[in-house]
Amino acid sequence: MTAQPVAPDLPGPWTAILDEARRYPSPHNSQPVVVRVHDDRRAELFYDLDRGLPAENFGIPFAHVCSGVFLEALATVAAAHGWAVREDLDLAAMDFASPQRLHLLGTVALEPTLVTDAAREQMAAFRRRRTSRRPYDRRRVAPAVLAEVAAIAADLGQEFGRTGEQDLGIPGPPLRIAMRHRWLWDLPVVGGLFRRVYLGTMRGVRELGWLTGPFDGPRDHVEAGRCFLRIWLAFTRHGVELHPFGTVITNPRSHAAFVDRTGIEETGGRMAWMLFRYGTGKPPPRAWRRSLDAMLVDEVRAGASS
Ligand SMILES: Cc1cc2nc3c(=O)[nH]c(=O)nc-3n(C[C@H](O)[C@H](O)[C@H](O)COP(=O)(O)O)c2cc1C
Repeated sequence: MTAQPVAPDLPGPWTAILDEARRYPSPHNSQPVVVRVHDDRRAELFYDLDRGLPAENFGIPFAHVCSGVFLEALATVAAAHGWAVREDLDLAAMDFASPQRLHLLGTVALEPTLVTDAAREQMAAFRRRRTSRRPYDRRRVAPAVLAEVAAIAADLGQEFGRTGEQDLGIPGPPLRIAMRHRWLWDLPVVGGLFRRVYLGTMRGVRELGWLTGPFDGPRDHVEAGRCFLRIWLAFTRHGVELHPFGTVITNPRSHAAFVDRTGIEETGGRMAWMLFRYGTGKPPPRAWRRSLDAMLVDEVRAGASS
């Protein structure tokens, strides 16, 4: 057994908040956001370009999406601890070739606020949330849950699309969906998944969801990330598991096939920027995280980037 690292003693509520916020989901579990705590209320956030290097250029916007996921995680945890987060973001594009490896995301400040029941409930979902790559069972996700998710997306200027729409109320095997959506078979990643459904080795994939909305610069990307975590937590609150397929979106060929077959219009800066499967099933094991210590940046290194 290796000893757990001792959480560092930061001023104010930072240790309590960051020690939970570090459980935010990130692509490939890269956990690229690092923090320099300034005092008991203020901190600077950076994106560590070495940790969060995208595999291909098409993946670069996902650095800001991931930052948005973190900001939503931070706000969720802080709210349950009695703090609102005021953000002053620096939305410059990331330069992955830069010699300065910490890209400044902005400054955040904590302001006291009352803890609401909704904040407690959201925190409980945040603690339970995880990626489930397991088979899902055959139960259909309740229309009310899907309506709630669609409303959350719409509230944030996004549109929630899904495969199940035409099939609502018609019970049937996953094969029915696979047959009705033959295009899914042609996707490099998801296609393989659907072929496995057909072969009966991946049970219970009934529903795929996607998010479409403004995706035309760092601000849009950050807002997309916030939306994604909020949706994920809504599914979690209702006991629904989720498995993102970010790689379908960041692979130009899969992405083109996906929008072509769904008929999604990607004009005026809008993009179908996230695809995932969702359903119910046994909760997966908890994923590893870096220690809080590894999320903190010392003055000298952060100073070199700002
Ligand atoms: C923007 C984004 C894209 C992701 N894309 C994928 C993906 O393509 N395939 C996958 O299996 N997991 C994907 N994930 C899930 C991460 O791998 C996962 O969040 C991370 O490993 C931590 O595990 P946890 O979510 O169980 O805490 C993605 C997560 C995020 C936030």
